[in-house]
Amino acid sequence: MTLAALTPDLVAHRPDTRTEWWRHAVIYQVYPRSFADASGDGIGDLPGVTARLDHLVELGVDAVWLSPFYRSPQADAGYDVADYRDVDPLFGTLADADALVARAHELGLRVIVDLVPNHTSDEHAWFQAALAAGPGSPERARYHFRDGKGEHGELPPNNWESIFGGPAWTRTTDPDGTPGQWYLHLFDSKQPDLDWDNPEVHAEFADVLRFWLDRGVDGFRVDVAHGMVKAPGLPDWDGHVAMIDGSDGSHAVDDVDGSGNHGPMFDQEGVHEIYRAWRRILDTYDGDRAMVTEAWVEPLSRLARYVRPDEAHQSFNFAFLAAGWHAPSLRRVITASYEANDAVGAPTTWVLSNHDVVRHASRMGLDDPTHRPNGIGHGDEQPDAGLGLQRARAASLLMLGLPGSAYVYQGEELGLPDHTALDDDLREDPAFFRTGGAERGRDGCRVPLPWEGDAPGLGFSPTGATWLPQPAEWADLAVDRQRGREGSTYELYRAALRLRRDENLGAGGLQWLDSPAREHVLAFRNGGVVVLANLDDVDVALPLDAEVLLASGPLADGVLPAATTAWLRLP
Ligand code: BGC
Repeated sequence: MTLAALTPDLVAHRPDTRTEWWRHAVIYQVYPRSFADASGDGIGDLPGVTARLDHLVELGVDAVWLSPFYRSPQADAGYDVADYRDVDPLFGTLADADALVARAHELGLRVIVDLVPNHTSDEHAWFQAALAAGPGSPERARYHFRDGKGEHGELPPNNWESIFGGPAWTRTTDPDGTPGQWYLHLFDSKQPDLDWDNPEVHAEFADVLRFWLDRGVDGFRVDVAHGMVKAPGLPDWDGHVAMIDGSDGSHAVDDVDGSGNHGPMFDQEGVHEIYRAWRRILDTYDGDRAMVTEAWVEPLSRLARYVRPDEAHQSFNFAFLAAGWHAPSLRRVITASYEANDAVGAPTTWVLSNHDVVRHASRMGLDDPTHRPNGIGHGDEQPDAGLGLQRARAASLLMLGLPGSAYVYQGEELGLPDHTALDDDLREDPAFFRTGGAERGRDGCRVPLPWEGDAPGLGFSPTGATWLPQPAEWADLAVDRQRGREGSTYELYRAALRLRRDENLGAGGLQWLDSPAREHVLAFRNGGVVVLANLDDVDVALPLDAEVLLASGPLADGVLPAATTAWLRLP
């Protein structure tokens, strides 16, 4: 097969002359407990992040998103916040957070922090007050407390399931020891959902936003952004709750044209009023503060409603992540993403990995690379590591060639796979426990980073301690082993990010190029660069006059091998 005849096809997106940083930024996700540990306790912390910010500058990203570091009992690794205005002692102090933001800004990096508004921790002062105050109190009205059904209130108020497994309701015990009301939690029982019909909740979060904006953060990543408002009356629903179909291991449905129906707990009209209010707050600050929503919503046209001009600035594009490794599906998702976002004037974002999904170097090594299990463990199908890495590098180079804004999850620049053979007794993800182990959960993508191949704990911590063990083969993936090594994944990302900046690819346009190999190869032009991604297992011949700028794997004899992406200059 040959790419000799590349012919111009559909223009899916036109260049963007607007200059706000978030329109074209590459944003690096730091998962603080696993990035770098300064204190030596084996859990990453904010001083550890600050000390390693140079790595991100060397890599060439524009911004950092920090997963939660707030005061928390860590029932869901910090997504259970007990105090939104303080740093958990595990991660440091408020002064450490200030120092991190200051150092990042000195280095020219923006900082986005996580905002978790759907639920608090059950150890939050509000929830403790609600338990103490009893039924009918204003304290309980900040959450969804209900009497149970059945003769003695022994049945949950409705049939909703928790996304982590089991019922979405837990019954409380009154001070005299008798069973009391139930409360709603879409996630773990230690994460009670707030009632966003209550104006006090709105006021509290507006204040939390200002607290962090005043400290100088450049914006927020909004957790479960489609879940805060529930349908009136909390009606029963017989569907299956997952963040998106497929995250529980089944196949993704059609994210492009899908039904958008995720039940009465998701994507309700009222959430948009919240983003409008927050946008007004952000707009009162200088410096283009931005907000990205984690909204697992389909179809893409429905997701784009979160990024209308007076709402959030960006939304994660999980349809791209879910499209797997299949040329026609990716072409369709990419085209539809631009169509939906361009219609509302928002940038399209791209993401392949994060702290909630099996890393793409492992997913793409599975027999079926569109399969997205919630974790991989002993006894499960083990990915083909070599093929997974080769495809992951190709997928990353494809992603970084796309106009818009891209998210890089810590460690993907090293080609890290998941830890796919973690002992179950080391797991911490509540999803593992709440499903009785049926889902392995997300610990495998949260293993501490390898910095130095020869150091104890691979340089993650000064004592060598790591809260989860690192696979032995990660020594060779450590930053110091890859730095300066020709062809390493780290150097591939650096080169791609440098070229992306030099060629202004983030602000560019996308025109598809057609060829006889269109079922196997994605081909498009972004400004002066032609991106070719061969997703199949056959080699294809490159155009004769191509100058190769960068490739995700070795190219020989004018051939683009299977599972390889190349960036070319064509005359
Ligand atoms: C976060 C998860 C978290 C959940 C509940 C998500 O979407 O990314 O890590 O478990 O929200 O807060």
